Amino acid sequence: MNIINNSRRSFIKSAGALALGATLPISLVELAFAGSRENFSFAYISDSHIQHIKDNRFVRNWDRGLIRAVAETNLLVPKPDFVMYGGDLAQLGSKPELDHGAEILSALKGDVRYVMGEHDYYLDLGEYWEKLFGPQYYSFDHKGVHFVVLNSIKTYDDWTFNRWPTAEQRMREMAGLDNPNSSPFMVGDEQRLWLKKDLDKVKKDTPVVVFSHSPLQKIYKGWNFWTEDAEQVQALLKPFNKVSVIYGHVHQIQYNQIGNISFNSVMATAWPWPYPQSYAQAEQYLPKLTVPMNRADPFFERDATGWQFINLADGNADLNFTLYNNSNRIVRYNKTLKHPEDTVYQDEKARIIPQTHY
Ligand SMILES: [Fe+2]
Ligand SMILES: [Fe+2]
Repeated sequence: MNIINNSRRSFIKSAGALALGATLPISLVELAFAGSRENFSFAYISDSHIQHIKDNRFVRNWDRGLIRAVAETNLLVPKPDFVMYGGDLAQLGSKPELDHGAEILSALKGDVRYVMGEHDYYLDLGEYWEKLFGPQYYSFDHKGVHFVVLNSIKTYDDWTFNRWPTAEQRMREMAGLDNPNSSPFMVGDEQRLWLKKDLDKVKKDTPVVVFSHSPLQKIYKGWNFWTEDAEQVQALLKPFNKVSVIYGHVHQIQYNQIGNISFNSVMATAWPWPYPQSYAQAEQYLPKLTVPMNRADPFFERDATGWQFINLADGNADLNFTLYNNSNRIVRYNKTLKHPEDTVYQDEKARIIPQTHY
C-alpha cells in the first residue's frame, strides 16, 4: 500500500471544505493502494450516547451530534464505500435509546456496519442490539482488505452474571468513567478462538483492519481505556504485515504503534473526555483533581472533538484533525522511528523513550 498523493490531497480538500461549517465529528478513513488494489475510503461515526429522558424526550445535545454527523456523512465527496458505527450508540442500553439511535442512523445512505459499545451492551447483553444491527463480531473483505469487527467490551462472567441484583444496576456500574465497581473489558476466549480461525484463512500480506470499541491495548485501567486480553489479541495479529486497529470509546485523540499494529481512536459525536493524568510524559506539579472534569477544557463545549481524516497508507496511519474550537493537528507516521508523531506537540524526549503503558 502507498499513499497516492493526488487522490489524498483532493480528498482532504473536499472534506476540509465541508469541515469549515462543521461542529460535530465524524472520522473518515482513506485507504490508498498502489498496483492492483483500489483506493477507497470509509466513514466512521462513534460514541453518540443517545440518552432517553422520558416518553419521547432525549438529551438534545447527543441527538444533535449524531443527526449532524449523519447529514455530513451523506454529503461527503468522494462518497465513502461504507460507514462504520463505532459503538456507544445508547447511553444506558435501553430499547428507546437504541431505537432512536437506529432511526437517526437509518438516514445514512449506503451500507452501515456496527461495533458494540459497553453502553449498548450491559442492560440485556446485546440482545436487542443484535436484533437491530446483527452479530456482535464478524469479518468481511472489501477491495483486498480484510476487516474484522470484535466485541471488545465483554468482561469476567462473575461480574456480568453474579454481581448485580438487576440488569439496570449492572448497566449503570459499567457506564461510569472511573467507577471502581466496573470491570476490565476483554475480547474473551470465544472470540479469540473465532478470530484465530478467521485470520487463518487470510494471506499474511493482506492488509487487516480491526474495529473494536475499547482500545485493543492497555492505556489506562482506571478509566477502562483498556482491554484485559489485549496482548493475546495482538499476538493473533502479529503474523500480518500491516494491521490497523480503529476504536472508539475514549472520546479523545489517541494513537500508538506496537510492532506491526497501528492503533487509532476515532472521536465521539457526544462529548470529549479529558486526558488522564497518567498520560503525562513530564512530571506533574499540579494538585491531583478531586472533582472529575467532563472534558479537556470545560470552557469549550466541543473541545477535542471535530473532524478526523485517517490515511491508512502502508498500514501506518497519517492523521489530520480539524478540531472545532481548537488548533488543527497533524499526526504523521515517522518511518525512521517507526511510530506516529504529532507534527507540533510531540515532546522531543518522547521520541527516544519507547511508549509504555500502565
Ligand atoms: Fe463512549
Ligand atoms: Fe464506551
